[in-house]
Amino acid sequence: MNMFPNYFVIHCLFCSRNLAAPVKTTQSSNTSLETYSTLQKESCHRLDFLVERQKQLCMLSDKMVQVLQTGAQQAVEECQYQFRNSRWNCSTVENSTDIFGGVLKFKSRESAFVHALSAASLAHAVARACSRGELNECSCDARVRKRTPRHWQWGGCSEDIRYGEKFSRDFVDAKEDKESEEGIMNLHNNEAGRRAVRGRMQRVCKCHGMSGSCSVRVCWRRLPPLRAVADALSTRYEGASHVKVVERKKGKNIRKLRPIHPDMKKPNKTDLVYLEESPDYCEPNEELGILGTRSRTCNRTSAGLDGCRLLCCGRGYQTRVRDHEEKCRCRFVWCCRVHCEICRSKRDHHVCN
Ligand SMILES: *[C@@H]1O[C@H](CO)[C@@H](O)[C@H](O)[C@H]1NC(C)=O
Ligand SMILES: *[C@@H]1O[C@H](CO)[C@@H](O)[C@H](O)[C@H]1NC(C)=O
Ligand SMILES: *[C@@H]1O[C@H](CO)[C@@H](O)[C@H](O)[C@H]1NC(C)=O
Ligand SMILES: *[C@@H]1O[C@H](CO)[C@@H](O)[C@H](O)[C@H]1NC(C)=O
Ligand SMILES: *[C@@H]1O[C@H](CO)[C@@H](O)[C@H](O)[C@H]1NC(C)=O
Repeated sequence: MNMFPNYFVIHCLFCSRNLAAPVKTTQSSNTSLETYSTLQKESCHRLDFLVERQKQLCMLSDKMVQVLQTGAQQAVEECQYQFRNSRWNCSTVENSTDIFGGVLKFKSRESAFVHALSAASLAHAVARACSRGELNECSCDARVRKRTPRHWQWGGCSEDIRYGEKFSRDFVDAKEDKESEEGIMNLHNNEAGRRAVRGRMQRVCKCHGMSGSCSVRVCWRRLPPLRAVADALSTRYEGASHVKVVERKKGKNIRKLRPIHPDMKKPNKTDLVYLEESPDYCEPNEELGILGTRSRTCNRTSAGLDGCRLLCCGRGYQTRVRDHEEKCRCRFVWCCRVHCEICRSKRDHHVCN
């Protein structure tokens, strides 16, 4: 069974248990290059939650373990940012092989979001590492140069999102069971996440030529900030499709995702899909790693998810007065800085019961 997005377990490299024999990140004193390389490979083997294919991919480059960590860590940070106002705030559980506790056992919208974001984040981290020359198998994207534009030239280092996607597909999708309903859902969402990166690649250009003439424009492709990708996936999360798995042709075992309500739009490849409604996340459930919303800060005037009514699940809230500090009476000082004073005030602070 494949209950968890195994990719995320990598985050536990930061947990004490898997750090028992730490990965050497700097070549301290005498470690030779060879020893260093061997250490990296051993650390891939030690990640016993990886399937064989993932271990192979991990060992492709010395820096791969760090790139995997970066991908996982960025995804967690983005998830916590996107869900900062929600009942489930993407909280992580310490010392668990499963960093989100059991929350992702539900085939829910949240699970859809986390899968998409983690697949996207890994593609992003790998493509970035490629362009920095940190990996053996990739570098800048040379293929973009085959398309010849008219008023400018390709130059510089285009970030290779194709390689990033390919790696993410190979690595993140490796453990999904294509036969299970959950696997079909996860694979769809993983792909939606990767497309959210690809679809936001940017072209940036620089002028060359006689001072200011811009007679030559040189352009390259750059990855979008992961924040932009996560923002987009958040929007997809809000409009996610509740689907079921259907046999498209009887007996032929071709299985497809279809909306549970026939009058709903069919999800396309960039939409997020889920199979089960979420729990309400209101009360703590240790087994599932749900913290509940007691003692969360809510916004009394907001009608949204961060509003006290929704966030506190109808249990009400308490108001406390807190000291608040902010910059104020700012003025511009010639030349060139801004001088501010610090103003202190009392502010109401609302906390869920
Ligand atoms: C470090 O390397 C030098 C030369 O390669 C060697 O003489 C020395 O013994 C090494 N030190 C340690 C602590 O391995
Ligand atoms: C996690 O494990 C470390 C070492 O095993 C221990 O010191 C720490 O208290 C644990 N944290 C929790 C929340 O269990
Ligand atoms: C997929 O559907 C969404 C709405 O759910 C729409 O915004 C988007 O443009 C569609 N994408 C494609 C590639 O058709
Ligand atoms: C999530 O909410 C809990 C309370 O339910 C709080 O203790 C925790 O700090 C929050 N985590 C994040 C990342 O905001
Ligand atoms: C609370 O919600 C209101 C209305 O949505 C918003 O204008 C205000 O900025 C929010 N306050 C905080 C502290 O987030």
